[in-house]
Amino acid sequence: MHGASVSLRELDKRYGRVQAVDQVAIDIRPGEFLSLLGPSGSGKTTLLMMVAGFEQPDSGVIWVGDRDITHVAPNRRDIGMVFQRYALFPHMTIAKNIAFPLRMRRFSKEMMSRAVANALELVQLEGFETRLPSQLSGGQQQRVAVARALVFKPPLLLMDEPLGALDKKLREQMQIEIKRLQQSLGITVIYVTHDQEEALTMSDRIAVMREGHLEQIGSPTELYDAPATAFVADFIGKMNFLDGECLRHDARCFEVAISRSGTIVLDSGSHPLVTSPQRGARVRLAVRPERIELVPYGSQNLNGLVEAVIFVGSSHTFLVRLAGGELLHVQCQASRAGNSLCEGDRVGISIPSNSVLVFPQMEC
Ligand SMILES: Nc1ncnc2c1ncn2[C@@H]1O[C@H](COP(=O)(O)OP(=O)(O)O)[C@@H](O)[C@H]1O
Ligand SMILES: [Mg+2]
Repeated sequence: MHGASVSLRELDKRYGRVQAVDQVAIDIRPGEFLSLLGPSGSGKTTLLMMVAGFEQPDSGVIWVGDRDITHVAPNRRDIGMVFQRYALFPHMTIAKNIAFPLRMRRFSKEMMSRAVANALELVQLEGFETRLPSQLSGGQQQRVAVARALVFKPPLLLMDEPLGALDKKLREQMQIEIKRLQQSLGITVIYVTHDQEEALTMSDRIAVMREGHLEQIGSPTELYDAPATAFVADFIGKMNFLDGECLRHDARCFEVAISRSGTIVLDSGSHPLVTSPQRGARVRLAVRPERIELVPYGSQNLNGLVEAVIFVGSSHTFLVRLAGGELLHVQCQASRAGNSLCEGDRVGISIPSNSVLVFPQMEC
């Protein structure tokens, strides 16, 4: 099996007054695992349905390999699909369910049974041929759905929140299984999810969707370390935001007043500026919990009060309240010193210049 390249060119889809998909353009490499990530209603399913052929775009073009499939019927696109609801036929055995796409394609009986056996082996469900879907657990049913989607060896697999109905533990196990399967087969996957952790775990690249448009596309680390907008910063991983006013911005330093809480002075040269604000501009600073350091009270221009200490196995999270009311999440490795801090302690807040992202405030 070989993965197909996919090229989505300026796709638009409108339902009445809702622009469900807005000028989305994405190029996907053969064998790539691409996730569409975004909140509910951001257009992920609509985009996937257009690739599958169950929805027609108002404008734009869809290429799979060197084939323009924009107006090709769904059953002639050679694309596998797995939905959140497994959509197995309840009255058909597992073997018949998996053979269904092959029957549609008029495979011989002999080829069908060999392909079904292979597909069952792929998802580690050998011996389940004669059972009915109702005799399988949710996770097993979803594996059957995956086997059915892969049985005709499509070069492209579309998955729409396929693990949404499973509990957390099984979901995490299935994430690894699906990823391993995708890698060993070398197929291209477009995977829809609203769960950022799932997207980070599984994807080569993530396309973040917002209100129908593509907000940013990049590898998990690119999106985590260099989010292009406050929306992406907020959606991927845990992020602290501090709103403030630019007091000074010159070649050497950049100083921001955080309401009544104090000021943050950053070294102009060493931190990534998403925007380059002028004096008086309202800005939104963003910093990851693991990039903040708690230091002795009074040693910084920004101080706070430890409101809670949360132990989560490998790390401590401190909730620190600033004078102006803002709440910061600060994460430290459990083994590190400084974990002797308790609720009620006063602390200084040290944030390295290169850990701060600066966004304009009005976009948020
Ligand atoms: N068949 C439809 N008719 C009318 N509106 C729709 C239809 N399908 C989707 N929408 C609207 O399009 C937007 C995007 O929906 P959808 O693609 O399902 O988002 P997501 O999968 O990200 O949750 C939503 O505002 C939704 O209400
Ligand atoms: Mg959806």
